[in-house]
Amino acid sequence: RVTPVIMAGGTGSRLWPASRQLMPKQFLSLLGEQSMLAETLSRLEGMDCSDPVIICNEEHRFLAAETMRKCGQGNARIILEPVGRNTAPAIALAALAAGEDSLLLVLAADHVIKDHDVFQCAVTAAAESAKANSLVAFGVVPRSAHTGYGYIKAESIHKPSTIERFVEKPDAETAASYLASGEYFWNSGMFMFRAQAYLEELGRYRPEILESCRMAMADASKEMCFIRPEADTFSACAEDSIDYAVMENTDKAVVVPMDAQWSDVGCWASIWEISEKDDRGNVVRGDVIGWNSRNCYVDAGERLVATVGLENIVIVQSKDALLVAHRDSVQDIKKVVTHLQDKG
Ligand code: GDD
Ligand code: MG
Repeated sequence: RVTPVIMAGGTGSRLWPASRQLMPKQFLSLLGEQSMLAETLSRLEGMDCSDPVIICNEEHRFLAAETMRKCGQGNARIILEPVGRNTAPAIALAALAAGEDSLLLVLAADHVIKDHDVFQCAVTAAAESAKANSLVAFGVVPRSAHTGYGYIKAESIHKPSTIERFVEKPDAETAASYLASGEYFWNSGMFMFRAQAYLEELGRYRPEILESCRMAMADASKEMCFIRPEADTFSACAEDSIDYAVMENTDKAVVVPMDAQWSDVGCWASIWEISEKDDRGNVVRGDVIGWNSRNCYVDAGERLVATVGLENIVIVQSKDALLVAHRDSVQDIKKVVTHLQDKG
């Protein structure tokens, strides 16, 4: 049986002003009816799974618990981080909570996967390698030289094979050369391994992170579905992602190809990309009048929005803020959020 581990601690700051500190993107329904976290759970339907483990920030405990209840996962365990220390520690907490013998399927709460059958077949293939103590990543055929992803080179891009090289977030030139070579996957950011296999590799490459997580879990407090690692110990833990801390270093990694129409819904441009468009390439939500406008993303919120002669522009209206951005610059929305936080 597989134990799903869902990482839901991100802030989604590039999706401001829809995604907010108190309501980050994984709890929003940006694409379908359900929230992205609920959608992540529904992807597992029909599989033989144990109760899931969710890891998120203390601030979002009620949102997480309510989602689990609504999804019929009232027995889920929810690990609450006092502060985010990125994914290497988060997954270590989950591995320790699940128990060393568990077979973990680590998922991000903010991805879209359109083909659930293909996804489940990839998981079945991955389980074989994971049971044999490999750390499995799921590889996606790259569609661009995106610099926000990990790149994986393996013996074959057609079948599960040993990872020869894992490069997290290469610079633009390197990413372009990987794309051109046709030999690399994107790392989808989902993983499968035995809890013990992960903890061992983390201990090999970042022993101090493992030690902090072990201590924080040894002194954890439990209350209903919530597990709280000891706050001071966990806050003192070093920050790193599984990609840099473990996947770039380990020689136990295997990649399983996954052609399941995967997307990381990281920014407004990626939402525009995967949404249905009108005949001028616009994606519109709510009350929008478009005149002579092309390839725009417009979410009118509660008001009427008219666009005249615009191209490649993103407009998102929320109750208290309005975003107008060029589609090529939406990565920088993060900076607006940082600025707002600095202002208090
Ligand atoms: N609980 C918890 N705590 N979750 C976290 C934390 C944390 O401190 N930090 C991030 N997460 C969650 C996010 O919510 C997201 O679901 C997932 O972990 C991945 O974190 P991101 O911050 O979105 O990572 P990334 O997109 O920069 O890179 C990862 O994903 C790419 C694919 O989307 C890497 O694995 C890349 O290699 C990969 O290509
Ligand atoms: Mg991401």
